[in-house]
Amino acid sequence: MTFRQDHLLGIEPLAPDEITSILDLADDYVALSRSPDKHVETLRGLTQINMFFENSTRTQASFELAGKRLGADVMNMGLAASSIKKGETLIDTAMTLNAMQPDLLVVRHPHSGAVDLLAQKVNCAVLNAGDGRHEHPTQALLDALTIRRKKGRLHRLSIAICGDIAHSRVARSNLILLGKMENRLRLVGPPTLMPAGINELGCEVYEDMAEGLRDVDVVMMLRLQKERMDGGFIPSEREYHHLYGLDADKLSHASPDAIVMHPGPMNRGVEIDGTLADDINRSVIQEQVEMGVAVRMAAMDLLARNLRDRRAAA
Ligand code: NCD
Repeated sequence: MTFRQDHLLGIEPLAPDEITSILDLADDYVALSRSPDKHVETLRGLTQINMFFENSTRTQASFELAGKRLGADVMNMGLAASSIKKGETLIDTAMTLNAMQPDLLVVRHPHSGAVDLLAQKVNCAVLNAGDGRHEHPTQALLDALTIRRKKGRLHRLSIAICGDIAHSRVARSNLILLGKMENRLRLVGPPTLMPAGINELGCEVYEDMAEGLRDVDVVMMLRLQKERMDGGFIPSEREYHHLYGLDADKLSHASPDAIVMHPGPMNRGVEIDGTLADDINRSVIQEQVEMGVAVRMAAMDLLARNLRDRRAAA
């Protein structure tokens, strides 16, 4: 296993062999999670604190389950009820928690860069569970694991990422990861939802779904992130669905065995047709959720090994 990191703040700092190590270990944790006794003692004695400054269903639940399956003591901070509401800064909150001797800190925050900043202030391993529009590394890793298991490889695939790219940390982390693993990447969506500096990303850009999806192996849909829009990005949801909502007709342009992905939560009838999302022959959305637990177990296991080594050497 090759994994040299103290924190998991993004995909950017990871080398391809580190990505492969996480996915290989995650495969073992998929098997464990499917077995009758899902509990191991890998993180026994360690304390994991989940700090979510932004709403989350899947990510928070899967980090909690992952920690518990690995035998850690897991605490979820109810941040709405904490001092955040009284104006305490992110750093003050982090320092308070740091004083309680956590070993793993899982943080989601609405501001890009907030999790990196926090990691500099605490003496435990920090995992980014999504910071603003910046990165969401465990989402990209679970997507990669899903693709690798379904397609049998994670290189030389043609992958289309579609929809609201501009506001999406999921798209950013996926672009970085899938690019590092040498896949052919396409971005498909209206120009208003493409990020600035798109030409430097090294992918093909399409405005038309039929063209963008032609012969691809993987179709990754993104949620229209209304909470990050301050008006004017799309004419109407109905129009958006007509042009960019994935349905069987648009999917027919992709390779016949193309898989359909979505990180959730889905806006059914907006970026994806509900029937297609539920079609177990095409959609791997439920597998993505399952892989999420395994990938988070693997990431925390590897970070805890490095943490223990560092502490033993100190
Ligand atoms: C994503 C997120 O929060 O960035 N969701 C998730 O983690 N499963 C994507 C989104 O909110 O659209």
